[in-house]
Amino acid sequence: MKHMELDEKVIKYTYGQPIETDAVVLGNIKVGENLSYLALEGKSFKYKLKKDIPVYGLGESVRGINKRGWIYESFCSDDDMHTETKRSLYAAHNFIIIAEEKPFGLFIDYPGRLTFDIGYSQLDELVIIPETMDLDLYILEGDTLLDIVKTFRQLTGVSYIPPRWAFGYQQSRWSYKTNEEVRAVAKGFRDNGIPLDSIYLDIDYMERLKDFTIDREKFPDFEELVAELKRDGIRLIPIIDAGVKVEEGYNIYEEGVEGDFFVRDEKGNIFEGAVWPGKVHFPDFLNSKARAWFGQHYACLMDKGIDGFWNDMNEPAIFYTPRAMAQAMQKVEESKDKNIDLGTFFGIKDSFSQIMNKEEYFKEMHHDMDGKCVRHYDVHNLYGYNMTRAAGEAFEKLRPSERVLLFSRASYVGMHRYGGIWTGDNRSWWSHLLLNIKMMPSLNMYGFLYSGADVGGFSDNTTEDLLTRWIQFGIFMPLLRNHTAAWTRQQEPYAFEHTERLKKWIKLRYALIPHLYSEYMKAALEDGMYFKPLAFEYEDEYVREVEDQLLVGESLMIAPVYEQNKTGRYVYLPEDMLLVTFEDEKTYTLTKMTKGHHYVACDMDQLILFVRPGRMLLLGAAADSTKDLDMTSLTGIAYCKEVCHHTYYEDNGMDRQVHLEGHVTEVEIKKENNHFNIKLKNAPCSVLEKLALTLFDNETETITGIQYDI
Ligand code: GLC
Repeated sequence: MKHMELDEKVIKYTYGQPIETDAVVLGNIKVGENLSYLALEGKSFKYKLKKDIPVYGLGESVRGINKRGWIYESFCSDDDMHTETKRSLYAAHNFIIIAEEKPFGLFIDYPGRLTFDIGYSQLDELVIIPETMDLDLYILEGDTLLDIVKTFRQLTGVSYIPPRWAFGYQQSRWSYKTNEEVRAVAKGFRDNGIPLDSIYLDIDYMERLKDFTIDREKFPDFEELVAELKRDGIRLIPIIDAGVKVEEGYNIYEEGVEGDFFVRDEKGNIFEGAVWPGKVHFPDFLNSKARAWFGQHYACLMDKGIDGFWNDMNEPAIFYTPRAMAQAMQKVEESKDKNIDLGTFFGIKDSFSQIMNKEEYFKEMHHDMDGKCVRHYDVHNLYGYNMTRAAGEAFEKLRPSERVLLFSRASYVGMHRYGGIWTGDNRSWWSHLLLNIKMMPSLNMYGFLYSGADVGGFSDNTTEDLLTRWIQFGIFMPLLRNHTAAWTRQQEPYAFEHTERLKKWIKLRYALIPHLYSEYMKAALEDGMYFKPLAFEYEDEYVREVEDQLLVGESLMIAPVYEQNKTGRYVYLPEDMLLVTFEDEKTYTLTKMTKGHHYVACDMDQLILFVRPGRMLLLGAAADSTKDLDMTSLTGIAYCKEVCHHTYYEDNGMDRQVHLEGHVTEVEIKKENNHFNIKLKNAPCSVLEKLALTLFDNETETITGIQYDI
């Protein structure tokens, strides 16, 4: 879309003196004079919500796809209890769409604490309350919900694109602590024939939990390990935390002090908090020099063969400050040998149990935003975003032509240009599988396409059936990573009784990578959504309430099973579709299903998905690693009512410079006089050589096998 056209769809209103967030990449947006749609009352924006009109958005947050009926706060929070009464999770995503007949979007570009009361205080009222009136408000218009999303994405920039190997299955745990443990995991997968592309290194690979170091006692041959695994198609992905350990002689600490790269307190001293390594300083990611300094240090691991990272604890998480700890200790000291009354007891208890992530810490911290001193609390939501930006900007220099895997825990609008996100410390709960399903399309609205939750659940012990169902959903998630906490049972697929079953679903993921990667790339390059709620494409009386089925790319609808002890589920079809029931990655049955409600069988040995009419599913052969995937020979399952159209994108999975042009194969099938007319237009860079077509014909319901050599 040309800028002119965009200009007609977005209006910007500025209040007070907003702090630049760099969320928006386009300048010259039309400035509005009189606020339309909303009413400004005092310090809050209000809007009357009509009955049953959904509100979409807020990205990473609790509850449903339709956000009505709760109060949410944008304030990046390190909180591992994602229950439905929470107001904030790790991200701050301030964009919503009000899905009226003429829908409109609202983006509040504000880096501080922002409240969205969406029918919490009053059922039919939306109230948006910033803490201070210094913000840019964007109103986005469009004919459809997808139109508005597209406009929002053009405003905020093109999504991050990971290397294709990042679509492989990834195994993580806090932590695989030694090179023997890492090798044992790789062996566990390879011995069992389970595909695997990455193993994650959590904090224990570091020397005394210090960023950009390697504990040589536990990983004496780190470089060899990286190279050996890579030969086998497995990459090691180390974690990087926001806090830098305070330790004399530690290069990052010393450079940070010397270069004045750390966040300071209100008196001008370097701010000290405590995270995993004990006392740390926080790099001032809001300062461009500090960003460049921190970013270049990723090179020390990249030089050792590392191709991807996850950025953590970047809300930032602060366990305590020396001052808060001293105050808590003081309370204990004062009560020593005394008969402690109720108030004193709870005072002591609270001073420890509530010592983490206190608001006062964020008020003490101060940034040097390239010459301007800004209190951290007022720009809190930009911290994790800018840590990931530091890495992303550095990678552009360190690996100018190749993509690097990168995702973060905390985020703000705009971070999607630099990396993906994972949704933090969920639990091995069935309700969190459902939360994961519902959250994905909301994240996609923001361009966080490369995202996912910890598959199997992070905290608490998972069960085999939960892991199986989660992997069955995770097959469709771009970031498919099984990760778990230090205190939980083993969660690798080979640690369970029915390893073969888990294996076949992971193999199905690999068979689907040509299709899923292609859908991902189209969504990224066309500012679209990879995961969509049904209501973004269909309009009928039911779809708005369907939140446990999703559209994946242009061709598929999925209906994951997310409850225990179920051998199937109810599915709503907004139009006729072709049901594909997989028994394993190679075996499937096809059934034509009519629009409406159905009960569909799907025990743990089956996986269901639906192909939309006029669309096609592409299936390849599984492999142990993405490096061995054959992208040249695919099977196409087409639901060809009258016509069927599919665009298949392919590239080398590595180049940073990407565009659709030259990389797409267009498949067009038309049924004419009881005969299928197949046209295939291959792009110059296309690799597709063989396409075995299974055409599902609506009238006769016959299936034809056609081998198409290109
Ligand atoms: C945080 C992360 C989690 C990680 C742990 C240890 O809780 O969210 O994924 O395993 O820190 O680094």
